[in-house]
Amino acid sequence: MAETKATNITWHEGTVTRAEREKKLGQRGATIWLTGLSGSGKSTIAVAAEGALHERGKLAYVLDGDNVRHGLNKNLGFSPEDRTENIRRIGEVARLFTDAGIIALTSFISPYRADRDAVRAIGEPGDFVEVLVDASVETCEGRDVKGLYKKARAGEIPEFTGISAPYEAPEKPELVLDTNSQTVEESVRQLIGYLEEKGYLG
Ligand code: ADX
Repeated sequence: MAETKATNITWHEGTVTRAEREKKLGQRGATIWLTGLSGSGKSTIAVAAEGALHERGKLAYVLDGDNVRHGLNKNLGFSPEDRTENIRRIGEVARLFTDAGIIALTSFISPYRADRDAVRAIGEPGDFVEVLVDASVETCEGRDVKGLYKKARAGEIPEFTGISAPYEAPEKPELVLDTNSQTVEESVRQLIGYLEEKGYLG
């Protein structure tokens, strides 16, 4: 848990409710939390799902690990403590998006179960949809889109997830996308099918 340093602060309620925003948008706000190894397909699926939702007139927004680490979280590295703080901040940002009525698609390795559970715990039931983007280390290493596995094997990247740092897969994710075997289109169809079925899309 991050230490609370601020004092003398008061929560201000707005006059427009979340329900009113959701009604206007014709959707339910949510955090679609993609978790999985580097190279498993999280960002690709998130971006494709954002496009597909946009096509259907839905408002979705991708929060991506590599991107967020260029700005909001540029002062964080890959130690366990920094990863926890990375996920805590993104969890709070995603919660704001969710409260705004937006479908936030987050794409972070988020290797620690406790960190993901903490994000789930700050929202309402149904706000957090945990999606395991399931590809083995072998699959990801075989793709090695960014050349990072090669560097990690050569000892050039310390604490690399799946090689020299742990990945704790979710025990009960809402959804598993098996990207060892299925295409991006199939994964996106599965994800959007889930959102449709559960009433997120109005
Ligand atoms: S997380 O573990 O804190 O959730 P995050 O998703 O933000 O990670 O960032 C992961 C991305 O950072 C990877 O896709 C990869 O491009 C890059 N990266 C750089 N160093 C590492 C490392 N040691 N372990 C994992 N990913 C790393």
